[in-house]
Amino acid sequence: MRILIRGGTVGTETGSSAADVLIDGETIVALLDPAHTGSFAGLADRSIDATGKYVIPGGIDVHTHLDMPFGGTFSADDFETGTRAAAWGGTTSLIDFAVQPKGSSLRETLDTWHAKAGGKASIDYGFHMIISDVNEQTLKEMDVLVGEGVTSFKMFMAYPGVFYATDGEILQAMERAAGSGATIMMHAENGIAIDVLVAQALASGHTDPGWHGRTRPPELEGEATARAIRLAQVTGAPLYIVHLSAQQALQAVTEARDAGRNVFAETCPQYLYLSQDDLDAPDFEGAKYVCSPPVRPKEHQAHLWRGLRTNDLSIVSTDHCPFCFKEQKELGRGDFSKIPNGMPGIEHRVDLLHQGVVNGELSLARWVEVNSTTPARMFGLYPRKGTIAPGSDADIVVYDPALRHVLSAETHHMAVDYSAYEGREVQGGPAVVMSRGETLVSDGEWHGQAGRGRFLPRGECQYLR
Ligand code: URP
Ligand code: ZN
Ligand code: ZN
Repeated sequence: MRILIRGGTVGTETGSSAADVLIDGETIVALLDPAHTGSFAGLADRSIDATGKYVIPGGIDVHTHLDMPFGGTFSADDFETGTRAAAWGGTTSLIDFAVQPKGSSLRETLDTWHAKAGGKASIDYGFHMIISDVNEQTLKEMDVLVGEGVTSFKMFMAYPGVFYATDGEILQAMERAAGSGATIMMHAENGIAIDVLVAQALASGHTDPGWHGRTRPPELEGEATARAIRLAQVTGAPLYIVHLSAQQALQAVTEARDAGRNVFAETCPQYLYLSQDDLDAPDFEGAKYVCSPPVRPKEHQAHLWRGLRTNDLSIVSTDHCPFCFKEQKELGRGDFSKIPNGMPGIEHRVDLLHQGVVNGELSLARWVEVNSTTPARMFGLYPRKGTIAPGSDADIVVYDPALRHVLSAETHHMAVDYSAYEGREVQGGPAVVMSRGETLVSDGEWHGQAGRGRFLPRGECQYLR
């Protein structure tokens, strides 16, 4: 089947221009000058009218938690509902975190995540591995996983007793990564100090969700980020700071990048749009916004947008980790430390970032870059994914920049009973979403199929110097 996307403005990380896109089967085969497309039009079996719209590479969300066990419950979206919601929002690939339970091998863990995703995912997916048990076997298995296309490993400086790794354990894993070309991803918050602040707050009778933010101060994210950067420097491992939320952490990343180190960072829409004010919402409503690191006082947001413009922040991922308000978030009524950490957002990342273009925070090219191209390069998927070029997978979004819609739990496709952006109007939305040449969404209809998504084995980070 040959498809021609006609009349649109093709947007890539280098700019935009009027061009028609010819797809053959699963692959983009040509970008055509519209003045000369006529002679090729007969080659196509079908054409899509993209007049007035952008034609951009499908979004890549490099940080999701689908079907993830946490605190006695599971994140509300599995690979079927989560990938479908992602596609509705213009995301055509994701990288999810497999979570090593203490006492398990990385092998068993990876097999478990393959079983969770296979037969359910409707878009292509890869895996990072969360290491929560550093030992000789785990360290050896890291190299095996790299050989299977799992080239990034997340570690935690937070959550003592659960995922927490000591500096010594982090150092060992970084040494291993430095030897195999893997990237270490870091949850950088000083969990030991935070646990003391949490215990003190609870002892003083502070149990509301707002205290989740007050007991995880931005200085402790800045401190942990700087420490992770030093450990990476000593070992030579590439370092990627996940879900960066605080100006202090951004400063540490900026200094490392200015010094030419292989240090990278992402932020998430919740840190760009939500704040401590949301956590302080009355009647336990603030629980909807509990994630770690926490959403920060508003003044951090301008720093994050600036970091995105200057490439000190390279990517916006969602950290999609949805828990329903009823029965899941409610586990923490009367004790904010028991509220499951995480927020929904997989469906709204592309639109919320486009809103950044509308608001003058990002250029169109930078929107495409942080949404798709850099995620592909950072995690070894480029040029198969992340661009519109001959030979690339036909993962394409025809994006209508004029569409206006209101984000709401009434209309979203995520399997979660609230929206973190309830009532917020955004400008722009996907009109057509294609994955490897197959139309998943068009004109408000779902055409995708659970199980069509394929595992994406990945290479090493493509930014290393
Ligand atoms: O609160 C969050 N971020 N939940 C998901 C787990 C993690 O740390 O990324
Ligand atoms: Zn984390
Ligand atoms: Zn996460």
